[in-house]
Amino acid sequence: KGCKLVGCGSAVPKLEISNDDLSKIVDTSDEWIAVRTGIRNRRVLTGKDKMTGLAVEAARKALEMAEVDPDDVDLVLLCTSTPDELFGSAPQIQSALGCKGNPLAFDITAACSGFVLGLVSASCYIRGGGFKNVLVIGADALSRYVDWTDRGTCILFGDAAGAVLVQACESEEDGIFGFDLHSDGEGYRHLHTGIKENEAFGTNGSVYGFPPKGISYSSIQMNGKEVFRFACRVVPQSIETALENAGMTCSSIDWLLLHQANQRILDAVATRLEIPADRVISNLANYGNTSAASIPLALDEAVRGGKVKPGQTIATSGFGAGLTWGSAIIRW
Ligand code: ACO
Repeated sequence: KGCKLVGCGSAVPKLEISNDDLSKIVDTSDEWIAVRTGIRNRRVLTGKDKMTGLAVEAARKALEMAEVDPDDVDLVLLCTSTPDELFGSAPQIQSALGCKGNPLAFDITAACSGFVLGLVSASCYIRGGGFKNVLVIGADALSRYVDWTDRGTCILFGDAAGAVLVQACESEEDGIFGFDLHSDGEGYRHLHTGIKENEAFGTNGSVYGFPPKGISYSSIQMNGKEVFRFACRVVPQSIETALENAGMTCSSIDWLLLHQANQRILDAVATRLEIPADRVISNLANYGNTSAASIPLALDEAVRGGKVKPGQTIATSGFGAGLTWGSAIIRW
């Protein structure tokens, strides 16, 4: 049994923040940000709008394109590191979509690698578990965890959601046909947003440190140079391994679709793999780094814009906090 990608969708918040807007709140400039990252704008959630709202909108569009009834969805995988609900937001998305066919829904936490892990998980659930219609949603609202006074991080991130519907099929010709996944907990310190330990585990006036005080999370802490080096080192290797597992080489892929973190990372990986610039999908000028949403958002734009055509092969790779990274070779 194989699986195929039959629908995609995406959603972004209305509020657009330009580099010039950011230069009014931190010491930066449009030129610095554009040259170092390729980013010019990003979208940011405001007020009571939530990540789950974007996720539901993106998923609905994917179901519409696939012409699949919500009741026929048997698994919802929400790839996010910024759930609205710490216990997991996927079940709420399942019910907001009206999936009443007794599905399973749960969150996958792997930062910017989340969507690739979700895609691979979907194919495994279909092959080994008899699932038929799996919604894979990548959605994040990192704007809520950014220190808006830190010019080293606040310029990078935006909020968004993207989704694909992965469907079981009898054909030998698989839609997800080679992958490679990794993590390295040693490197977590280069990019993290952890519990503020002094606040969480303070003594609260008690000798034994009980009861705990309740927790809050630090804003995103990042060593940009290390993350940059890490991505340029592991992503080409991972794509080559995924291609090998699929019995393919770089010359046989139509598109390279990387997590949209920095245009210089996209360029460096493409150069290493000798993939020409016109085969690299990039939309980060408009949205910045949207974490788990960036790959399905860029895929959706490329499909709806007629760039990616049915039957074409895409090498996709996510990388980021954890540290985690992974690649999947997919056919649209
Ligand atoms: N505007 C102006 N100047 C700045 C800014 C800014 N926004 N940010 C930093 N600078 C300054 C620094 O203070 C430094 O000044 P100094 O030389 O006087 O000390 C100078 O610019 C160079 O700073 P670097 O940090 O060395 O700049 P670099 O070229 O490494 O670019 C960047 C920084 C854009 C963050 C880059 O390292 C990067 O993109 N790294 C990858 C980050 C990433 O992709 N993270 C997300 C991973 S995905 C996930 O899981 C969330």
